[in-house]
Amino acid sequence: MIPTLNPKELFSKYRPEIVEAIEKVIDSGVYLMGEELSGFEKEFADFLEIQNVVGVGSGTDALTLSLKAIGIRSDEDVIVPDNAYPTAFGVAGSGAHARFCDVEKDTLTISAKTIESVLTTKTKAIVVVHLYGMPVLMDEIINLARRLNIYVIEDCAQAVGAKIGNKYVGTFGDIGCFSFYPTKNLSTMGDGGAVVTNDTKIADRIRRLRMYGEDIRYHSLESSTHSRLEEIQAAILRVKLQYLRDEIKERQAMGLRYREALKQENLIPGLLTKGLTHGYHLFVVRSNNRDRLKEKLEAEGIMSLIHYPQPLHFQPAFQKIGHMTYSTRHFPVSENASKQILSLPFYPGLPVETQDKVLETVRLWI
Ligand SMILES: Cc1ncc(COP(=O)(O)O)c(C=O)c1O
Repeated sequence: MIPTLNPKELFSKYRPEIVEAIEKVIDSGVYLMGEELSGFEKEFADFLEIQNVVGVGSGTDALTLSLKAIGIRSDEDVIVPDNAYPTAFGVAGSGAHARFCDVEKDTLTISAKTIESVLTTKTKAIVVVHLYGMPVLMDEIINLARRLNIYVIEDCAQAVGAKIGNKYVGTFGDIGCFSFYPTKNLSTMGDGGAVVTNDTKIADRIRRLRMYGEDIRYHSLESSTHSRLEEIQAAILRVKLQYLRDEIKERQAMGLRYREALKQENLIPGLLTKGLTHGYHLFVVRSNNRDRLKEKLEAEGIMSLIHYPQPLHFQPAFQKIGHMTYSTRHFPVSENASKQILSLPFYPGLPVETQDKVLETVRLWI
């Protein structure tokens, strides 16, 4: 079977270095909040050209702690794209109301226009999700947010390495949130995440919130959970960060190859915008015959996935949020997309002959 994503492949080529890094942690006797964490935070900050990186337990925690750090209240709204399934849980964890928002047809990401249609006087933050690795144009969204005094949080879980102009995503809004889930562009062998920001006050608060609200050990300023990026995971990330630029280049070359083999109407987005560098985390096509395409691929031994099969406003967990009842809401673009999208096998190390086999079957049945 040809897998859609292949975490094993993302680690096995660095095995000797990863084993060495893990052994170093074992021998150090420090497994949390040590030098691997601070080393990774510094190196990732240098990579992104941002002042502060705070490692946390997961991408979900990165979102939750970011919202807590801006002082979100339980009666306030946070705008979340209706097709970004994991994002909603990070927002819900903060206790605030996730307010779902439809997306643009071509990119399947939010825009100033779609955001404006769901703004309320209670809106405190917008979470912009760079879905599949495709950067969202930030200027208009940031202008809108500045005008209304709203925070912009970038969810970069799927977009490590994506750029707008010369700047990496995650450095445009007030805060950027990253996930190092095993299949991500920069990934670890378990859970892991990071919050990045140029606002040192926010960074300091997140440093406290990830550790019982402590300013110094055993002195807590505000009650909080703990959420720490473990030393072993940080050590693995430090190995993999050295190869990230090369891996992104490989993803981009493969992404362009896939795009050239397919018709514009089946691509997301149809055309690439000049000046944007796609991070190519997932390669997602759209088809009116999605379920048949999935079956035909499977018959050829090719696995595919759907990111994501149900819009957030259809999820039983989110039928009622505060004063909002979602069963009566309609987000046509997100609803249609969930029936059309399909993620194809796509990861660094996928052999060219396998890529060709995937593309041949897709072209036949899309
Ligand atoms: C867009 C997006 N946001 C948030 C998350 C949550 O990250 P994690 O799984 O590390 O909690 C993910 C990853 O699953 C994601 O893809």
